Amino acid sequence: MDKVRIGLIGLGWMGQLHLQYLSEMEGCIIEAVCDVDEKRAGETAEKYGARAFTDYHLLLEEDAVDAVYIVTPQMYHFEILKAALLTGKHILCEKPLVLTAEELSKVRRLSRGYKGKIMVDFPQRFSVATEEAMCEIKKGSLGKIQFMRGNFRFSMKRHAALHGEWVFDRKRGGGLILESSVHLWDAVRYMTGQEVVSVGAVAHCHPDMDFEDSFFCIANLSGGGIASIDMNGWLPDNSDTDKRFEIVGDAGCIYLDEFRNYLTVKSEKGIENNPGMFTDGMTHKDVMWHSAIAGGVKRLDEYFMRCIRLDETPMIGIEDGARATEITWAVYEALRTGSIVKVNYGTGESA
Ligand SMILES: NC(=O)c1ccc[n+]([C@@H]2O[C@H](COP(=O)([O-])OP(=O)(O)OC[C@H]3O[C@@H](n4cnc5c(N)ncnc54)[C@H](O)[C@@H]3O)[C@@H](O)[C@H]2O)c1
Repeated sequence: MDKVRIGLIGLGWMGQLHLQYLSEMEGCIIEAVCDVDEKRAGETAEKYGARAFTDYHLLLEEDAVDAVYIVTPQMYHFEILKAALLTGKHILCEKPLVLTAEELSKVRRLSRGYKGKIMVDFPQRFSVATEEAMCEIKKGSLGKIQFMRGNFRFSMKRHAALHGEWVFDRKRGGGLILESSVHLWDAVRYMTGQEVVSVGAVAHCHPDMDFEDSFFCIANLSGGGIASIDMNGWLPDNSDTDKRFEIVGDAGCIYLDEFRNYLTVKSEKGIENNPGMFTDGMTHKDVMWHSAIAGGVKRLDEYFMRCIRLDETPMIGIEDGARATEITWAVYEALRTGSIVKVNYGTGESA
């Protein structure tokens, strides 16, 4: 395949970010864009020399589209993903994958044996700091991982201004725990190499709106380790988002600041800050772009295009998106019951 022809559905904040990066890449072209907002569809199509659609069904029927990006709010992911999975096209779907267990079961079933590539968008796996951390973990610098902690801090006002009020609406967004902590749970699974077995949680509810604005979760992991994740949306509106992790094993530990791209590794070799990051004469400033969400997104888009061209299976499949989602549902149940809840990983056998 010379160039991957992209059709992108959902032209809001995240859709525009993907388009910006995809349009700068050699190996792909923006063939079609779709949004229910006709003006937005038309303007975006003009900007990228693509064709405009307001009905995603028509975009999915296009032979000239090889890969579909699903970047609408999550309440539409299921219907679009279900239709896309009947086309055989390559698919990138935003997180969280879907909103209900029934939808997830159908997606699992439809995606089994699917001939196109499918990937879920967890860009933090592609930040330089995370990639360096994974190199250390794979080398064995930490030994056996016993403990992981992740936290996410942001301004709710800023979050709503960027993405729209739907992010705080349980019906449309699924709830903030689902909307945002799927990233943290994916990081726990990816970096510890262990599954989340059970969870407990406490949360603080927004004084004026119906959602949890802050929470702490604890988890037992399949390899005997433990993890905690916590989120808080009360940062001042002028501050950037923060996402940080600590990963501790019996031989060393890593402190990782994803958005600032800082990594500290403490192991038998001593303490190293940002190991391997300043090779090729790059300065810290040069690599900063890698670490912000946009940097991760750009590298993830490049990776997905590479998987399509080289016929490789993407590292973040439906099952990863499904499991991160199912963990958040167990968290809601833990909050409701005030107890430790076993995560129920569905099999997708039901129709
Ligand atoms: N992976 C990440 O790091 C990351 C970051 C931010 C957002 N997201 C996800 O990306 C998705 C979009 O978020 P956003 O912030 O861009 O939202 P947004 O509200 O800014 O944009 C959504 C766009 O989708 C359009 N739309 C809605 N329904 C549609 C339909 N049926 N067909 C076509 N277009 C439709 C809207 O008109 C809007 O233009 C969400 O699922 C969100 O969770 C992921």
